Amino acid sequence: MTDPIFANITAVPDDPILSLTGKFLADPRSCKVNLGVGMYLDENGKTPVLNVVREAKEEILRENSPHTYIPQTGLPQYDQRVQELIFGSDSEIVRSKRAVTVQTLGGTGALKLGVDLMHWTCGINLGATSKPTWTNHNDILRLAGYEVTGYRYYNTDTGCLDFQAMCEDLNALPEKTLVILHACCHNPTGYDLSLSQWQEVIDIFRQRHLIAFLDMAYQGFKEGLHEDAQAVRLFAQSDLNFLVASSFSKSFNLYGERVGALTVVAQSQAQALCLATHLKMCARANYSNPPTFGARIVEKVLTNPDKTLEWEKELAAMRNRILKMRKALADEMSAIKAKRDFHFVTRQAGMFSFTGFTPEQVDRLASEFGIYAVRNGRICICGLNDTNVAYVAKSFAAVL
Ligand code: LMR
Repeated sequence: MTDPIFANITAVPDDPILSLTGKFLADPRSCKVNLGVGMYLDENGKTPVLNVVREAKEEILRENSPHTYIPQTGLPQYDQRVQELIFGSDSEIVRSKRAVTVQTLGGTGALKLGVDLMHWTCGINLGATSKPTWTNHNDILRLAGYEVTGYRYYNTDTGCLDFQAMCEDLNALPEKTLVILHACCHNPTGYDLSLSQWQEVIDIFRQRHLIAFLDMAYQGFKEGLHEDAQAVRLFAQSDLNFLVASSFSKSFNLYGERVGALTVVAQSQAQALCLATHLKMCARANYSNPPTFGARIVEKVLTNPDKTLEWEKELAAMRNRILKMRKALADEMSAIKAKRDFHFVTRQAGMFSFTGFTPEQVDRLASEFGIYAVRNGRICICGLNDTNVAYVAKSFAAVL
């Protein structure tokens, strides 16, 4: 007997980012290059295990602790270090304890927990994301029961940030819209707001009673841990309540371990403690308790000042390699006299570059050259290295 419940279901498309990895792996060509998913690769095309991670893992194995449940809100010291990392250890928010941080299943888990909290606890039903944005933002909101709208961010004609349009659209949003903002290294465009622009945005949020949800998955990939947190810290200096989703997937190369955090900034410690009870309920209903291993690794590093310094050096090395590859790609494109100047790539920040390639050009890159990128024209710069950058530039030039 066929089950009538499923009789009319049709398949949905694969995830536009994650599905690229399977296509890349299935490609038999040795010249192939993966510029798809945002995952750091070193000069040899491998995601390295950081030294600080290796050492912490060895320590954890030696300790051989039992695999008990940890608190629903995660490891307390981990949560504390996350707050210090995003706000700065001398921040008023950290000292007054008016924020609550919950360990989550990566940055995606933090976003999901945050939108659930705002929906179920505060009755928020409308979410807004930048145009374009990381595609999963829209799905996370939609599947949590939100209606989703967009605010303009990037002008495809000029290839630049369109701040005026962004402000116009934010100003037109209904009160209490939950607005997802990219705190740094905007995904996919690589263009961030300046500090004065952030200040203007904060003023709009205050006037229009909007709720900011800052997604900071790439802290440390633009200029440094402190510099990249400037937008979050400006919000922290305002009198607004807001949410931050953060992640160690990228900054510790701990992708598969799902190590993230949700931080919610309230008015007072009492309010933060009350919010924690709601967050525990949302966590319980979603996955009960967070996983332990990755968070313990991060906790070991961030509770030891020497190891924290070593981590910052390893993170800087990843950041600098990406910067070097941005320049190498732009220079190669100039050297072969490509139809378009590619130096805009050096003005974008983080792992990604928004190239302006059309979906058809991206398809040609995959079929003719074995180069995999997201169909919206986003490339992950981490896939470039000294060996393949000339080939990639030549292939880019061929489809222009
Ligand atoms: C990306 O945008 O490629 C990363 O954030 C990985 C993901 O989950 O999509």
